[in-house]
Amino acid sequence: MSRNAWFETVAEAQRRAKKRLPGPVYAALIAGSEKGVSLDDNIAAYSELGFAARIADHHAVRDLSTSVMGIDISLPVIISPTGVQAVHPEGEVAVARAAANRGTIMGLSSFASKPVEDVVAANANTLFQVYWSGERDEMIHRIERAKAAGAKGLIATLDWSFSNGRDWGSPQIPERLTLGAAMNFAPHALPRIPWLWSFAKTFKIPDLKAPNLKPRAGGEPPTFFGAYGEWMSTPPPTWDDVQWLREQWGGPFMLKGIGRVDDAKRAIDIGATTISVSNHGGNNLDTIPAPIRMLPGIVDAVGDQVEVVLDGGVRRGGDVVKAVALGAKAVMIGRAYLWGLAANGQAGVENVLDIMRGGIDSAVLGLGRGALSELERDDIYVPDDFERER
Ligand SMILES: Cc1cc2nc3c(=O)[nH]c(=O)nc-3n(C[C@H](O)[C@H](O)[C@H](O)COP(=O)(O)O)c2cc1C
Repeated sequence: MSRNAWFETVAEAQRRAKKRLPGPVYAALIAGSEKGVSLDDNIAAYSELGFAARIADHHAVRDLSTSVMGIDISLPVIISPTGVQAVHPEGEVAVARAAANRGTIMGLSSFASKPVEDVVAANANTLFQVYWSGERDEMIHRIERAKAAGAKGLIATLDWSFSNGRDWGSPQIPERLTLGAAMNFAPHALPRIPWLWSFAKTFKIPDLKAPNLKPRAGGEPPTFFGAYGEWMSTPPPTWDDVQWLREQWGGPFMLKGIGRVDDAKRAIDIGATTISVSNHGGNNLDTIPAPIRMLPGIVDAVGDQVEVVLDGGVRRGGDVVKAVALGAKAVMIGRAYLWGLAANGQAGVENVLDIMRGGIDSAVLGLGRGALSELERDDIYVPDDFERER
C-alpha cells in the first residue's frame, strides 16, 4: 500500500521535501545568508510568544476571512512570491490553483518558472512581484504584461543586498540543464527517483529560465542567472524611482521588505497600498531581526495609513494568529508552501493552507475570539525584550 500523501504539519512536509528533492534544490529553498541568524530567528521568535487562552464563552463559529490589497480572502495567509525553479513541473501554476481552491491570493515572482498569463488563468487573484532590475522601458514592459494578463496588484521587493556566502555552503545549481550539467547533477538527482520521474513524465527537464522577464524586443527569456546578473548590475532605486514605479503601475501596490519605521513612513508618502514587514525570509543581510519583532513598532507608527502584512518564519496557524494579534492584516508564506509543493504538488500546497487554517481556527477559538478583527495584543504574552524598533 502506498504511503498516505497527506501530512499533518509543515515540519513533516519539509521532511518529505528533503527526501524527495535533489540536495542542491532543497538547499536552494533553505537559502539563508552568512551565519543564518535571521533565518533561525524568524522561526525562533514565534516560540517566545505565548497565548493568553480563555476557557469559556468560546465562539462556536469563527470568521477567519479578511482582505489584502482590496481582495477578499478566506484566511489571513497569502502566497509570497518565490523565484524557484525545479521544485515541481507544474511549479507556480500548481501553487496558484491551490491558493484559488483555498480562497486566497497568489504572489508570483518575476523570477518564477511559469508565465504570468498561465498563473492568472489558474488564480484570478494574482499579485505580480518585481525587483528594481533592468532599463525602465523593460520594467514598464514587464508590469504592462502582468497588467494585461490580469494581475490585480504589484509587489515591489526592495530588500536585497546581494550578500553572498553561507557558512554551511551554497548549493551548486547549473545555469542550464545541458547534458554535461545534467551529468554533474546526476549524483544528486538519481537517488531522487520520484522527483526525477515527476519531470520525466512531462518530457521536460527544468529549463531554469524566467519567462516573465522575456525582453520587450522578443526572443528568449533570460536564464535565472542571467536575470540575477541584470538585477545586480542595475543601479539601486531612490525613493523617487520607487514612486515612479508605483505611478507606472497605477493600481494596488505593495512594498515588500520593510524593517524600519522611517521606511514604512516613506512607503506611505509614495502612496503604497500595503507594506510587508520582512527580511526576505532571512536571505537578505544576516542579523536583521525576525519580522514579528519589528511588526508592533511599525504598526504603531503607521496606524491605518497603510495596510501592514508580514512574512518570514510562519510555519503554523498559531504563528499567523500571533502576527494578526500584533497588528498584521495577514501574513505571506514562503517556504511553508514550497515544502508542500515539493512533497505533493498542488495537493501539498492545499494541505499546507489547510494546516494553516486549522491552526488559526484553533488559536482563535482558544483565545475566545469570534473573528480575526477581535484579536488584540493582550491575547499574546510578549516578553519585555522581544520587540525591535528603529
Ligand atoms: C527559495 C526562495 C526564493 C525566494 N524568491 C523571492 C522572489 O523571487 N521575490 C521575492 O519578493 N521574495 C522571494 N523570496 C522571499 C519570500 O517571498 C518570503 O519573503 C520569504 O520566503 C518568507 O519567509 P518564509 O520562507 O520563512 O515564509 C524567496 C524566498 C525563498 C525561500
